Amino acid sequence: ITIRQATIDDIQAMQNTNLQNLPENYTMKYYMYHLLSWPQGSFVACTYDDTVNDEDESDVVKYDCNYISRENEKIVGYVLGKMDDDPESQAKNPPNGHVTSLSVMRTYRKMGIAEKLMRQCLYSLTENYKAEYVSLHVRKSNRAALHLYKDTLAFEVLSIEDKYYQDGEDAYYMKKVLVLDE
Ligand code: ACO
Repeated sequence: ITIRQATIDDIQAMQNTNLQNLPENYTMKYYMYHLLSWPQGSFVACTYDDTVNDEDESDVVKYDCNYISRENEKIVGYVLGKMDDDPESQAKNPPNGHVTSLSVMRTYRKMGIAEKLMRQCLYSLTENYKAEYVSLHVRKSNRAALHLYKDTLAFEVLSIEDKYYQDGEDAYYMKKVLVLDE
């Protein structure tokens, strides 16, 4: 598994991964907005599929699978990160980041991929955009993600946002203070 910065070429694969894994979905424009505004804020996890062969017609179907974004490369997870760009909030707070979305394809879970994506994102938002803290929302019922944020990455719950999600579920609003490398 390789973790690398996400590029515009990856957007379709990221969107496909998101559609398969989460009910919170975004327009292509919103992915584009993240990558154009904060190119060092989003990352993908990929594997290389050696069985894909250019000359073999039967592989066309593999290229059609929209989570293969480059030749032989298959996106299996992503993290979509941004900086706070709301003028009202910027006036009140130090530079801070936000994790918009994170997901890993089912068959690649529990291998440490989400932790790697998150650590890379947090490090990059601090180093490149001077984020002093990073926040995110997560469903109250999302045990896997809560374990990752709370126990593995030491995020703290700041508040509960009532009926944050469209289906009426509450969200934990979580935050992690980051320390810049000198
Ligand atoms: N139940 C309990 N703990 C779990 C689970 C689970 N189902 N899955 C992972 N964990 C724990 C791991 O054991 C590990 O803990 P450790 O550090 O104590 O060993 C930690 O969480 C990190 O595990 P990873 O292997 O890095 O996580 P993974 O790659 O499996 O991805 C994720 C976790 C992203 C939550 C995945 O399950 C997923 O894609 N779920 C669906 C989408 C989703 O819920 N995304 C997050 C929404 S919130 C947001 O986007 C801001």
